[in-house]
Amino acid sequence: MRKPLISGNWKMNLNHFEAIQVVQKLAYLVGKDDLEQADVSLHPPFTDIRSVQTVIDSDRLGFALGAQNCHWEEKGAFTGEVSPVFLQKLGVRYVIAGHSERRELFGETDEMVNSKVKAVIAHAMTPIMCCGETLAEREAGSTEAKVLGQVRAGLAGVKPAQVAAMVIAYEPIWAIGTGRTATSADAQAVCAAIRTCVREVAGADAAHQVRIQYGGSVKAGNIAELIGQDDIDGALVGGASLDADEFARICKLGR
Ligand code: 13P
Repeated sequence: MRKPLISGNWKMNLNHFEAIQVVQKLAYLVGKDDLEQADVSLHPPFTDIRSVQTVIDSDRLGFALGAQNCHWEEKGAFTGEVSPVFLQKLGVRYVIAGHSERRELFGETDEMVNSKVKAVIAHAMTPIMCCGETLAEREAGSTEAKVLGQVRAGLAGVKPAQVAAMVIAYEPIWAIGTGRTATSADAQAVCAAIRTCVREVAGADAAHQVRIQYGGSVKAGNIAELIGQDDIDGALVGGASLDADEFARICKLGR
């Protein structure tokens, strides 16, 4: 069985003081038994990571530290970028690669996402590689073409055993921050297509083991139904992860 992974992507929200408060509140609300049912990763802004790491380490919390992005080079003249080496040094376990906001607002291409995925793996961290279609693409019937194209490009040159250990997040762009969620049947259909695509490019073992998250207006009220789908192994949560009470209920899988 694939253990669900619930990831809180705080995006550009919460300064390091606010981040510490949310983590402390979450620590109080999410217990060891909850973390046996689901892994939980927290993805603060870069400026908060060291503070969150300190709280996780000193209080021996069971949350995994995450980042929202990284560069693929280890060092050099890349003003404003953050090296995967720095993230690894901070104890980061999961790094989001190719979030739709990075692709749509900051021009990240499939090739850049592929480089990031490989760099994250090369530094012993786990990529959460995002994919998803716009509303226009969905209405034009090209959801699978877009999503599977992103998956194939993002996994190019990644070894099957590495694919098996990574996370793919299906986030329909029209469902992000809009309050609109894909129906669980629609989300399941796309996640199943992603798994079939992984089988084609990396084999049956990788397809069986890779964790596929759904993201897009996930809330405490819809997580149970989403996670109940065969090919949905967790959630990438934006807005609802900023509220410790709501996110704790998501981490408990709506129970
Ligand atoms: P929301 O949960 O706010 O829709 O955001 C989803 C997302 O983009 C997570 O990465």
